[in-house]
Amino acid sequence: MSDQAPLILGIESTCDETGVALVRGTTLLTDVTATSMDEYARYGGIIPEIASRAHLESFLPTLRAALERAEVALEDIDAIACAAGPGLIGSLTVGAAAAKALALALDVPLYGVNHILGHIAVDELVHGELPRPSVGLVVSGGHSSLLLIRDLARDVVELGSTLDDAAGEAFDKVGRLLGLPYPGGPHIDRLAQRGDPSAIAFPRGLSRPQDRERYPYDFSFSGLKTAVARYVERHGVPDDGQDGPSTADIAASFSEAVNDSLTQRAIRACLDHDCDTLVIGGGFSANSRLRELAEQRAAQHGIQVRIPPIRYCTDNGAMIAALGSVLARARVPASDLSFACDSSMPLTQAALSA
Ligand code: KG4
Ligand code: ZN
Repeated sequence: MSDQAPLILGIESTCDETGVALVRGTTLLTDVTATSMDEYARYGGIIPEIASRAHLESFLPTLRAALERAEVALEDIDAIACAAGPGLIGSLTVGAAAAKALALALDVPLYGVNHILGHIAVDELVHGELPRPSVGLVVSGGHSSLLLIRDLARDVVELGSTLDDAAGEAFDKVGRLLGLPYPGGPHIDRLAQRGDPSAIAFPRGLSRPQDRERYPYDFSFSGLKTAVARYVERHGVPDDGQDGPSTADIAASFSEAVNDSLTQRAIRACLDHDCDTLVIGGGFSANSRLRELAEQRAAQHGIQVRIPPIRYCTDNGAMIAALGSVLARARVPASDLSFACDSSMPLTQAALSA
């Protein structure tokens, strides 16, 4: 390795995106993503077998494009990071097999890293190194987790998570109820922006005093989703011009309930753990109401909110390279090349061990 920070190649393949990126220190050189998402609209969800095959087809062209754009040769790479979990096991295995082959051929260390923590690490490429400690909120189609990050490389505590649906998953399911295309999250967000968030009093999960005490940092969205389903059963999906709450009002009231729970607990975690930085990542952090409410509530307590631009919130190679860079700079030993991907890799583990 040269005396400047090591050049890290990051490979992401947990779900439907094949991402390849190059990072040096906290500087992103390039980030290229191919996605098989378009294939799933007609199924209403991701088909793992199609995703795995798409990774296989996309990997080499994506790698070539990344190297070309950054004007980097394979030999310049100092270390590789690939997502090792959590995620779809077939998709993960394709990316990890490619990463292992490259690491062997180039004789460089390989980190099998945690995808969820990558959603936090990517923020360093935009806003610089993360203050310690910070609170992290990772919200996506598969996860809603609240983390205490004392050291991203070595010391992360999971404070809470969703007891049932993830925030994005709840949006996608309610999207289906309202007859919106898959994935419903962005459609509900757009609709909600012209609705009244107080039109319908949807319930907040885990808000009874005994639940708040037992689950101070956890989330639950299944009761809320059922409440929306009941509402739609009773009233139907309103047409424009119909009296009473509109579809936009349903979307806004539902969105408000989800984002109220997320931000209320995230701010609670910051106050309880003396953290003045809240970093938010994951595909759901594209949500406009989450961004607004988090900023508003954090400002009342002098907490700084860091959210990367939307293109770094969805799955991408930069997040994996960024976490690889954190690990390499912290001199964490690389993973053993014989590692197996772990579809439920714990959040306390930034990388699979040596
Ligand atoms: O992190 P991500 O790209 O994939 C994983 O789930 O790992 O997140 C995708 C999720 C989907 O559920 C999608 O509907 C949701 O994030 N999403 C949104 C928005 N943009 C994406 N949900 C609400 N509002 C949005 N603007
Ligand atoms: Zn993700």
